[in-house]
Amino acid sequence: MMGYITASALPGASLTAATTAATAKTSSTHFVLLLLTASILQFGAAYQPEFAEPIVNLTVPLGRDAIFRCLVHHLGGYRVGWVKADTKAIQAIHDHVITHNPRVSVSHNDHTTWNLHIHNVQEEDRGQYMCQINTDPMKSQLGFLDVVVPPDFIAEETSGDVMVPEGGMVKLTCRARGHPEAHVQWRREDGGDIIVREPSGHRTRVTSYQGEVLRLMKVTRSEMGAYMCIASNGVPPTVSKRIIVNVHFHPVIQVPNQLVGAPLGTDVTLECIVEASPKSINYWVKGTGEMVISSAKYDVQVAAKSLFEVQMTVTVRNLEKDDMGSYRCIAKNSLGEVESNIRLYEIPGPTRAYNLPFDEEDYGEQFGSAEREQDEDFSNSVGRPSLHMTPGPPRATYDTLSESHVPYGTVPSCVAIIVATAAAMILPLFTLVLFTI
Ligand SMILES: *[C@@H]1O[C@H](CO)[C@@H](O)[C@H](O)[C@H]1NC(C)=O
Repeated sequence: MMGYITASALPGASLTAATTAATAKTSSTHFVLLLLTASILQFGAAYQPEFAEPIVNLTVPLGRDAIFRCLVHHLGGYRVGWVKADTKAIQAIHDHVITHNPRVSVSHNDHTTWNLHIHNVQEEDRGQYMCQINTDPMKSQLGFLDVVVPPDFIAEETSGDVMVPEGGMVKLTCRARGHPEAHVQWRREDGGDIIVREPSGHRTRVTSYQGEVLRLMKVTRSEMGAYMCIASNGVPPTVSKRIIVNVHFHPVIQVPNQLVGAPLGTDVTLECIVEASPKSINYWVKGTGEMVISSAKYDVQVAAKSLFEVQMTVTVRNLEKDDMGSYRCIAKNSLGEVESNIRLYEIPGPTRAYNLPFDEEDYGEQFGSAEREQDEDFSNSVGRPSLHMTPGPPRATYDTLSESHVPYGTVPSCVAIIVATAAAMILPLFTLVLFTI
């Protein structure tokens, strides 16, 4: 401050006045004008100073530098000052910085271009800046500095991963700040639809949902997965947050083929589809309670079909009489346990098994997920058997094995599947011949 006083050597201004002005952090504009006017008394001017062009408004991202340019013609002995219009805080007079803000500096070329530099702009720098010439009356013009801030999530008001029982409600929140105000939208990571249920009960499917709060009502297992909330306000970078929605439910087993007939000496694969969340422990038990594990006899496999579906298979190799009987697939999770029975029986014949047409109506009733929302368009379809061959073995033989189900078997080898599928698709008559011979 003392440096300013000595260096400026304002004619006509008393040292006391200058000291007061310089030390007062928020000197009033008027006082500065008085100071500036005083300084000019001893300089004559041929022309009156005037602004050559308006100040260009600036939009600057947080942390970058801003430079206001004030172009003045015929400045003569007058001086140019910068004042922040809203707070009246004097930034600079001529080539001296007045404000204590260390991020502010000034520069000028010839007496025409007067620059105010604000380094590393902060939100408090936003506002109008006035370029003044100390004429009487003073001349001034304004430039606006907008400081834009990229979006950012407010951690305390943004959801983390959630767990919800099926049928329950989930409220996901992502609050974002930024300038201008950030806009939040939701998407599913897998690109699937978001099901929005309005209070009326009406549901709509959308690929993206706008708003800081996303409510999932009567949530189903198909709504399980990763949701992304994306905040943007036109200032890069856009930010996103990933929120996992876990939907919990009692395990359910679906069995495509409950009765499997195969001749001795062939390999046969038994299959169960398990739906469970949290993930279940899955295993097979033969007959009275011997757990089936992979060996020369058995090949036990588990394949994930979706976030909550797995296909359990056991291939029984080289069937013998002892292999016939019941096989139970069992699934357990923290919400419960379920099992389903598959009956493997011997059929005569060299190396073939038979499939009867699959009965779609019975399927859902007996093996479908009783707990799942009965909702055609949103329910998850479980793979239906693709092999529909005719004819099958006589139904009468298997009546005792199932109350309502039409029995059918699995085909023992890949070769047979390929042959039979191709045959069934291309030439049903040929299939008939093939199997009746
Ligand atoms: C700067 O912005 C203000 C409004 O904030 C506007 O009135 C003025 O015309 C703008 N100046 C220029 C040079 O665009």
